[in-house]
Amino acid sequence: MFPGNFAWGAATAAYQIEGGWDADGKGPSIWDTFCHGKGRVFEDQSGDVSCNSYQLWEEDLGCILQLGLTHYRLSFSWARLLPDGTTRHVNKKGVQYYEKVIDDLLANNVLPMVTLYHFDLPQALQDQGGWKSSEMAGIFDTYAKFCFRTFGDRVKLWITINEPYVCAKMGYEDGLFAPGLKEQGVSAYIVGHNMLRAHARAWHSYDTLYRATQGGAVSLAINSDWAEPLDPASSEDMAATQRYLAFTFGWFAWPVFLTGDYPGVMRSNVERRSKEQGYQGRPRLPTFSEDEPSVLGTADFFALNYYTSRKVKARGACGGMLSLDSDRDAEGVTDASWPVCGVSWLAVFPEGLRNLLRYIKDTLNGPEIYITENGFSQVGLVDLEDVQRAGYYLDTIQEVGKAIQEDGVDVRGYFAWSLLDNFEWASGYSVRFGLFHVDFSGAEQKRSSYVSGKEYAKTIAKYRTQAGTDDLTTE
Ligand code: GAL
Repeated sequence: MFPGNFAWGAATAAYQIEGGWDADGKGPSIWDTFCHGKGRVFEDQSGDVSCNSYQLWEEDLGCILQLGLTHYRLSFSWARLLPDGTTRHVNKKGVQYYEKVIDDLLANNVLPMVTLYHFDLPQALQDQGGWKSSEMAGIFDTYAKFCFRTFGDRVKLWITINEPYVCAKMGYEDGLFAPGLKEQGVSAYIVGHNMLRAHARAWHSYDTLYRATQGGAVSLAINSDWAEPLDPASSEDMAATQRYLAFTFGWFAWPVFLTGDYPGVMRSNVERRSKEQGYQGRPRLPTFSEDEPSVLGTADFFALNYYTSRKVKARGACGGMLSLDSDRDAEGVTDASWPVCGVSWLAVFPEGLRNLLRYIKDTLNGPEIYITENGFSQVGLVDLEDVQRAGYYLDTIQEVGKAIQEDGVDVRGYFAWSLLDNFEWASGYSVRFGLFHVDFSGAEQKRSSYVSGKEYAKTIAKYRTQAGTDDLTTE
């Protein structure tokens, strides 16, 4: 069902697991600032200590080996490597930390996939305007080149930016994630645009300066729900579904993989709403400049983060406010038959992943795809016997198998979110996504396998053995 070189992985992100927020010369990031303020995160929790992976990396390695992973996706904390965000000052201790992680993985035959940016901008850069500033593309490019130069002899799979949609929407539209701004209908488009420009600059740098000698691959991680019409017979719901996908998936996938620009329906809806509301400022959805390196074609594979699905209906009257929601003009609801998993937004629909994979194949000319995140949470009571979650993983992996075998989708790997229970952003430690439980109440942050972790290990072993046998029979 899965090819022998299929990547079996799990993922984490620096701010969510490392702790050591000011250790050994690390600079503060926007998440440090955000959490140290009051009333923003569940019970005012923070990632100050979290799983303490900065000191307990070897424990994490133990978990990775227990699972039998072939790949591990981690992110670099930009401010741990470059405390003020620039290469004026390199934090040697930070470099050493990631060198050890990468070298230990390779010594154990686990391949690293590294994300350069997973939500945690150095605060020093936020102070200069952060992602709203057009300067960020060049600054990110310098950081990316530093990472390619320093680690690219060993890291062959790179993600520039994780979920630009979530950064833009949650950080600048809803204000629920760092930097906590609520500038509706305007800033998220600017932030998303600068992230695409930054990603493109970094991809071009890799392509011209490092690809020949390092031979790796670079992409950005795009999150998307699967969406289908609430009433398949309604042309309004069909059109609303197209808009739903255009404003999440298309916002980032179209420029990079399809046209070099945002989906037409984004442009027309944003323009129409601006007119309706008498908006006088600069066009809200920016334009890609021909004087800059092109964004189109700047991904060597498709990196997909998938969690859930929606049934979509047309929304009708949107009220007087400018906002991303009113521009999109489509409402997603969950189906009563999809079990809700921990958090209310996460309705489980494994077939949704298969459908989305097929949609990506059909609309984007069959790119190689890595599923860089997929997972299920527990809220409240912690149960090491998380049989339900183990079942969800199994069902979802089977849908991935069908996408490969029956739909001919070129899926190269699957990364579970997450290796460990960790700091789940605004939900703090109340929401647990780990394959390993972490005891946050003690000083030792002890890791223990959930049943889902043990079952995932068995699944990996089974498919790897099967692939090995298939290889022998075809030889
Ligand atoms: C993603 C994010 C992860 C993790 C996950 C579960 O949006 O990349 O960091 O938090 O959601 O909610």
